[in-house]
Amino acid sequence: MKTFGMKTVIHFGDNALDRLREIPYKRVLIITDPFVVQSKMIDLITEPLAKGGIEYDIFSNVVPDAPVDKVADGVKKFLSYQPEAVIAVGGGSAIDSSKAIREFALKINHYSDVGLIAVPTTSGTGSEVTSFAVVNDTEAKVKYPLISPSLTADEAILDAELVKSVPPAITADTGMDVFTHALESYVSTDHNEFSAALAEKAMEICGVFLLRAYLDGSDMHARQKMHVASCLAGLSFNTAGLGITHSMAHQLGAQFHIPHGRANAMLLPHIVEFNANINKRSRSQKTYLPSVERYASVAHILGLSNYNQVMSVRSLVNWIQFMQKEMNIPMTIQEIGTISPDEYFGAIDKMADAALADACTTTNPRIPTKEDIMKIYKKLWSF
Ligand SMILES: NC(=O)c1ccc[n+]([C@@H]2O[C@H](COP(=O)([O-])OP(=O)(O)OC[C@H]3O[C@@H](n4cnc5c(N)ncnc54)[C@H](O)[C@@H]3O)[C@@H](O)[C@H]2O)c1
Ligand SMILES: [Fe+2]
Repeated sequence: MKTFGMKTVIHFGDNALDRLREIPYKRVLIITDPFVVQSKMIDLITEPLAKGGIEYDIFSNVVPDAPVDKVADGVKKFLSYQPEAVIAVGGGSAIDSSKAIREFALKINHYSDVGLIAVPTTSGTGSEVTSFAVVNDTEAKVKYPLISPSLTADEAILDAELVKSVPPAITADTGMDVFTHALESYVSTDHNEFSAALAEKAMEICGVFLLRAYLDGSDMHARQKMHVASCLAGLSFNTAGLGITHSMAHQLGAQFHIPHGRANAMLLPHIVEFNANINKRSRSQKTYLPSVERYASVAHILGLSNYNQVMSVRSLVNWIQFMQKEMNIPMTIQEIGTISPDEYFGAIDKMADAALADACTTTNPRIPTKEDIMKIYKKLWSF
């Protein structure tokens, strides 16, 4: 048996933030990152709350990648303020921190339910609709996804006004995260008709609008489309799971602070090649893995028509690398310029173990060995 459900009610389009006037809570804790407060973007959240007569407090001590010590600070704040709901405002880091803070606080105090409203300010993680929260154990240098239905937000508010200010490099990274979510869920071992429909639309939007949003951040049509694509891709992987691009990217984030979407983009062409497992001399190969057909369908969705499936998969790899180059995403770890070869190669063994153990590995279409993962990490240094 398979089950598909959507817990989160999604408010989207022009003036979606007006929903905050009507939410059924009287006392809320806003959890956000310092940028949102410093840039005064927070006013777009607090004004409708004030109009609705809703009392609020703000915890803005969130930093990228949800480190556990900051989550603990947030739990303290939650327990002292005792909100009826949490409003998570920010990128994936703020939303994931909020999910973890609420989860742990409820466990400590055995509260009755406390609501969660997620308001993304990047078009990337889809965390506003997923049951995932990626946290970072900074001491062990391991990032891992917590997965539980109880982490899922009750409501998501998608207002593209909030993403207008995202600079080009973060638009590129987060946009490639969207594409990676859609692609990995599309080929995952748990893919199904519902997840595929959501992923197909998300990939189609990325194909048309990601570069537009990158080149002109004030292109509101492109911004709106990417904001919806991010959510669609989140809904897709929430039911179908992800794959080893994410498992491996989590480790690059934990070890070297490579932004999540950027790490995905760098790994993705290599993972498509690994999962498709097409020989160099493909004509000598009699049969192909099922993922070849699915990757070929993705190439079709992106308009990369080709007369056979093998060529289509190669076009898909080329398209991902084209997007990397157009959006100035490094192709190799060496190109990043801040990581020494000793540091990098010294971490590969540990990263491979953690990637194999990562929850996202279970739904990858091809089962990797530790050696496979190590080989891909080594190739990523410079190829
Ligand atoms: N829960 C999930 O389902 C899920 C899925 C994928 C990734 N993740 C996790 O989410 C995190 C990454 O999230 P992210 O990619 O959204 O980045 P992020 O939240 O770390 O934010 C990146 C940077 O963008 C800035 N920023 C955010 N909104 C902005 C805006 N509107 N204008 C200008 N700057 C803005 C932030 O201040 C920060 O410096 C990672 O920890 C990743 O592992 C979670
Ligand atoms: Fe992701």
